Amino acid sequence: MSHVVRRKFSGWRDINFRSAFAEPSVTPWDFCFFHFFLIYNLLCLNRHTKPILLPVSHTVLPQISSTNRPHTSPHTPPIPHPPIPHSTFTPLPNMSPPAALDVNLVGVTDTSAVPIPEPLAVNGVSAWREKTAKVPTGIAAASNSDMFKSPICYTKPKAKQFEHRFSLEAKSRKASTLKGAARYLKNPGLISLGGGLPSPEYFPIEHLDIKVPTAPGFSPQATRESGTVLHAGKHDIQEGTSTYDLEIALNYGQAVGAAPLLRFVTEHTEIIHSPPYSDWQCSLTAGSTYAWDTALRVFCERGDYILMEEYTFASAAETAFPLGIKAVGIPMDEQGLIPEGMDEILSSWDVAARGARKPYVLYTIPTGQNPTGATQSAERRQAVYKVAQKHDIIIVEDEPYYFLQMQPYTSGDASPVPPPSNHEEFIKSLVPSFLSMDTDGRVVRLESFSKVISPGSRVGWIVASEQIIERFTRTFEVSSQNPSGISQLALFKLLDEHWGHAGYLDWLINLRMSYTARRDSLVHACEKHLPREIIHWEAPAAGMFHWMEIDWRKHPGIAAGKTHAAIEEEIFLSAVNEGVLVSRGSWFKPDHSIAEKKMFFRATFAAASSEKIDEAISRFAGSLRAQFGL
Ligand SMILES: Cc1ncc(COP(=O)(O)O)c(C=O)c1O
Repeated sequence: MSHVVRRKFSGWRDINFRSAFAEPSVTPWDFCFFHFFLIYNLLCLNRHTKPILLPVSHTVLPQISSTNRPHTSPHTPPIPHPPIPHSTFTPLPNMSPPAALDVNLVGVTDTSAVPIPEPLAVNGVSAWREKTAKVPTGIAAASNSDMFKSPICYTKPKAKQFEHRFSLEAKSRKASTLKGAARYLKNPGLISLGGGLPSPEYFPIEHLDIKVPTAPGFSPQATRESGTVLHAGKHDIQEGTSTYDLEIALNYGQAVGAAPLLRFVTEHTEIIHSPPYSDWQCSLTAGSTYAWDTALRVFCERGDYILMEEYTFASAAETAFPLGIKAVGIPMDEQGLIPEGMDEILSSWDVAARGARKPYVLYTIPTGQNPTGATQSAERRQAVYKVAQKHDIIIVEDEPYYFLQMQPYTSGDASPVPPPSNHEEFIKSLVPSFLSMDTDGRVVRLESFSKVISPGSRVGWIVASEQIIERFTRTFEVSSQNPSGISQLALFKLLDEHWGHAGYLDWLINLRMSYTARRDSLVHACEKHLPREIIHWEAPAAGMFHWMEIDWRKHPGIAAGKTHAAIEEEIFLSAVNEGVLVSRGSWFKPDHSIAEKKMFFRATFAAASSEKIDEAISRFAGSLRAQFGL
């Protein structure tokens, strides 16, 4: 169906075509390029486009400047960028937050209409790649997501500026001189005596072969029997058999990661989240824990408070504390953090009483929260986002469990819900991320391969506005330098060369079904064994954790005057003595200023088999019965 999207429009300033590397002044090039771009759009009805009404008026043309110059036309392949040569950070002019798009499906015939491209879909990736410049392949070759984002991204408004949220440390960082020098390595005929890069002949690995599943045979047995061996040689690029090889992967690289894998995660991000502003970027990371550590450095000062869920991933809190950062816990319910609770904390913040300024970083795990297993609904996320806008908060969404969203729980003999029948259905079934509703560019999304491919790979990626990614990049350059080359190469071989986006989604659907079965085993075992008079739970909708609340006030220790902590410890140790390890809820409290009224234990269904899960829950039930005298 052909339709026209009419949206609120306040001039070309609102459409971002700015490159991360834009020049500081308006040149005749700007003007020519813009006219070419405009005429091209009007004349060229690309097969991948649909008509859209974008008001084009000569009166707005003078507003074109180098900060919104189209560096990649929506309909022409992007121009390869130079590396990331910021010597210092150049703030952009402050802009009002872009409004959400008003979408009206109305037929309009209007000669000022220009085509707007189709959203990037799994089956559109190869066609789009053919139109783009080749992926950079040299040693430490520079790249950024703008090389890989599809034309539709550039029809959206730009992110707001958040320089006022950067820490002194972040503001002080300069580009790495040595990483910047790598840009010259691509110059034809250049003999490098510049950097301390070892010669590849001294990398004692000639090739790597990895055996991986061939879709749809994802089980370990199918992989053993009919898996595919992926070969990575040292000189595959020279030999024309790949765009990434050991010669490159074993050397130093750029902080944002190797271009071929960066391209894959950029496309994946666009397909799944389609961020609503134009100047978003991805950067590969050495995992989410490390990215979170960097986020604290980028946004916080010693003595600051951050907002966290009342119960949270213990390592995330433990990363913050030694940096002199304290946490304030936001009350939670079965859908995770409560926006009204967050608003209340922020609205009543007393600087003198707290001895600290109002917090402006929220760390949240919106899907399959660790430890509670809670998943925020779309409406809940919208409400949290509004509170973040009201108080000008940066949202760090840590989402390692996003793709562990499971099928609805069916108890007893009810038949399980069948898997999504295709990729579109699968993508539609996912709760929208904060990134996907981030009209301001205030979200930093932490992605990780840890829970969906392998934690030992130590590779993940972040998505945020160009301005924020640029500050992260400056930090990565002089800390992690780049994520492990061997890991990036293995992931690239598997995800990009072997599975492609379609195969990766098949793998994720397969994981979803496996986790659903595991979750069901655990919840069924709880229904079968646990004494409901003192314990209750909700079946988790995502993640790997099952959160159980104990009615600790019924514990006989209360009469003997025992404290919450003492009773929690007794229950924990009694379970260990029975031969089962569960985690104590108090381990996950980042803010001990509020006395614990409730008591929880966490069990995971990620690691043990169905039989072992049943046995473990039966042992836990035995220990609870003994503890409570049931
Ligand atoms: C919420 C959360 N974030 C991050 C991580 C770790 O991610 P990564 O392995 O990418 O550092 C975990 C691991 O348990 C987690 O639960």
